[in-house]
Amino acid sequence: MLKITNLHAEIDGKEILKGLSLTVNAGEVHAIMGPNGAGKSTLGYVLGGRPGYEVTAGSVEFDGKDLLALAPHERAAAGLFLGFQYPVEIPGVSNVQFLREALNAQRKGRDEKPLSGAEFLKFARAQADALSMDQDMLKRPVNVGFSGGEKKRNEMVQMGLIDPKLAILDETDSGLDIDALRIVGEGINRIMRKPEKAVILITHYERLLSYVAPDFVHVLSAGRIIRSGGPELAAELEREGYAGVVA
Ligand SMILES: Nc1ncnc2c1ncn2[C@@H]1O[C@H](COP(=O)(O)OP(=O)(O)OP(=O)(O)O)[C@@H](O)[C@H]1O
Ligand SMILES: [Mg+2]
Repeated sequence: MLKITNLHAEIDGKEILKGLSLTVNAGEVHAIMGPNGAGKSTLGYVLGGRPGYEVTAGSVEFDGKDLLALAPHERAAAGLFLGFQYPVEIPGVSNVQFLREALNAQRKGRDEKPLSGAEFLKFARAQADALSMDQDMLKRPVNVGFSGGEKKRNEMVQMGLIDPKLAILDETDSGLDIDALRIVGEGINRIMRKPEKAVILITHYERLLSYVAPDFVHVLSAGRIIRSGGPELAAELEREGYAGVVA
């Protein structure tokens, strides 16, 4: 589904990704761990097409297409979803408006008819319920004044509505309380654990991985994947830290 080959990318002339390669097949969950500043979020931004990041070498194939040749909205329409480490606040735009526009834009791209306000609201409420998010939050401006954990939960409601093919979730577990972690973990499984889908989970801790069992765990350090293994690698890192792996 996703094939990243020798990816080099820089921001403001500083090279952050330095020859990163990673292959993700349908049906797989990959966890990416690694020290602060290693380039994990940068990888998500580059795949999502965030302006300011320049790819200087390498290639990314998504479902047989050249991902890097697509505009960000085309990447989303192709089924890519990026969950942000720091979800942005959008004052003046209600959560429902935002989500309905996003979903209908994608439906249009797939030649499906747009959902009416009523249809969408029913769907959005069901997703909010499934993630134990207060219905009132659907009416509030996107993420404005949401607590850290509420923002993360809101991102999962978005993901449930958009129903992407590939989700890159950047520290979706950070800031979640113990119950929310379980709810979000179960949400990721419910929405994304399907044979035709795949997930890249960027995380610092093994905890989320106890809910969303990864097929592969990778260590990203200084802009490259320096080691890959199974779930036991996450346990090893938790026990021993990065020193031994990075050295
Ligand atoms: N505009 C910029 N100019 C120079 N360096 C930058 C710029 N933006 C980001 N960086 C650097 O890129 C590196 C990678 O950042 P990134 O956010 O990808 O790290 P990360 O692996 O996600 O870390 P964390 O675990 O802390 O979230 C960092 O050293 C960061 O300071
Ligand atoms: Mg990060």
